[in-house]
Amino acid sequence: MDKNEDLIKRRETIKLGGGKERVEKQHAAGKYTARERIAALLDPGTFIEVDDHVRHRSTYFGLDKKYFPADGVVTGLGKIDGRDVAIFSQDFTVQGGSLGEMHAKKIAKIQDTAMKLGIPIIGINDSGGARIQEGVDSLYGYGEIFYRNTLASGVIPQITVIAGPCAGGAVYSPAITDFVIMVDKTSKMFITGPEVIKAVTGEDVTQESLGGARVHNSKSGVAHFMAKDEKDAASIVKKLLSYIPSNNMEEPPLSNPIDVKPDEFLNTIIPDDPHKAYDMMDVIERVIDPGTFLEVHSKFARSMITGFGKINGRPIGIVANQPKVLAGVLDINSSDKAARFIRFLDAFNLPVITFTDTPGFLPGTAQEYGGIIRHGAKLLYAYSEASVPKMTIITRKAYGGAYIAMGSKHLGADLVLAWPSAEIAVMGSEGAANIVFRKEIKASENPEKTRIEKIKEYADMFSNPYVAASRGYVDTVILPSETRSYITRALDMFSSKAEGKPTKKHGNIPL
Ligand code: HXC
Repeated sequence: MDKNEDLIKRRETIKLGGGKERVEKQHAAGKYTARERIAALLDPGTFIEVDDHVRHRSTYFGLDKKYFPADGVVTGLGKIDGRDVAIFSQDFTVQGGSLGEMHAKKIAKIQDTAMKLGIPIIGINDSGGARIQEGVDSLYGYGEIFYRNTLASGVIPQITVIAGPCAGGAVYSPAITDFVIMVDKTSKMFITGPEVIKAVTGEDVTQESLGGARVHNSKSGVAHFMAKDEKDAASIVKKLLSYIPSNNMEEPPLSNPIDVKPDEFLNTIIPDDPHKAYDMMDVIERVIDPGTFLEVHSKFARSMITGFGKINGRPIGIVANQPKVLAGVLDINSSDKAARFIRFLDAFNLPVITFTDTPGFLPGTAQEYGGIIRHGAKLLYAYSEASVPKMTIITRKAYGGAYIAMGSKHLGADLVLAWPSAEIAVMGSEGAANIVFRKEIKASENPEKTRIEKIKEYADMFSNPYVAASRGYVDTVILPSETRSYITRALDMFSSKAEGKPTKKHGNIPL
């Protein structure tokens, strides 16, 4: 056979993956193949596949007689919206996408290439996990990948799509990456499967209830996005990339500045009754460029909002309390959620814009036993450590430790703005009056009247932004409708911010 023809034939075999029957099975399960996924994501005609001729080397359990096209993973380089990316996509039609020595080497090689080029890496996972026949070589392979995930963390963005099973230790590579997108219904992530759980604990669970997309988006926080289907997952990847630079030495991609008029509605958004909630999302959407908000972790720890947006075409990260959910309280999960997001923003040169309206940390044994001290400390640490421009808007309540934790001046905020409705105090005036004036209230002829007077006295003193502003803890007090204009100008000014930090190997964030 002519050598060129031979190559064409080899390529055809590789492209077929696990064969027609398995491809049909994949489609019937509502899943694309590894190559179809890459095609859905990359700009047409840009994919350069590498290592398509790689073969496994294992001879155990009859593997020497088996050929796995591309060894069950497609790897290469391509472009998304004109920007270079590295990609790997596990092929479930080939031995269940299982990961053996050479499969892992392919992934590790494309990780190394992404680092050399300073470009984002996207991993699409659909795999039965460690290739059981290859034994310890599979474990070696995972270790090599985890190691590279860690080296790449904070250098290049790492994005994971879970598009099928992802079990056992295999879940830890996605967990080290920056963002995990799970496809509803078809994706699963768990350390131990239902059979093992049944045997060890007697508990009856299904794969879906154990580690489906809904569970990891709303309960565990392992996943940041839930995609309706694979097409949706591809569009989330593309949207995500539009806010972030290709590596930590680059600035985020700018889009055209847009002129947005001040929104007078903001001047009336805070309810007169301090116990009444409002939707912080309404505030965010009126301050940033219309239609640019991409919420991260939208179903997890919902008393905190995190997400990307643009102001005048400049990408930013937003961290905000959500008064509509548990009054915007800080708890274990919301602290973790915000802290990790802030660290991503800081690593990739994205300014942090914080909106504060929180009554404080959530009290109770569940939180204390769960380590709210340790978790809340992460938030303090992440804000203090971040050297990107940090701007904070206090819309209403900023009480106690939560005031400090939510990007206060004291943790290095570059600009702290407060609305006239801001209440900056050690605690709410009711709680404060009950403690401070307890004896006076008790001794009074009319305790209720005295209590109300004392609450008012405390509120008049601290439930406003002016005491904090008189000390310089708040840079200035603004009308809510002026927020966008202030932030736009400040982002421009602070784009040249350079802040020295003490030299060290790395800090010791409380984990
Ligand atoms: C080798 C595997 C495999 C694996 C699947 N296959 N997983 N081969 N090693 N881990 C093969 C199957 O034998 C089958 O081959 C083909 O892939 C398709 O699998 P099916 O079982 O037919 O598919 P399905 O019914 O959809 O079930 C998918 C599955 C199941 C739920 C993922 O295959 C499964 O439970 N696999 C084992 C999962 C597992 O325990 N992995 C090890 C985890 S421990 P044929 O030739 O019959 O078509 C781990 C440790 C990592 O990963 C540690 C890192 C630190």
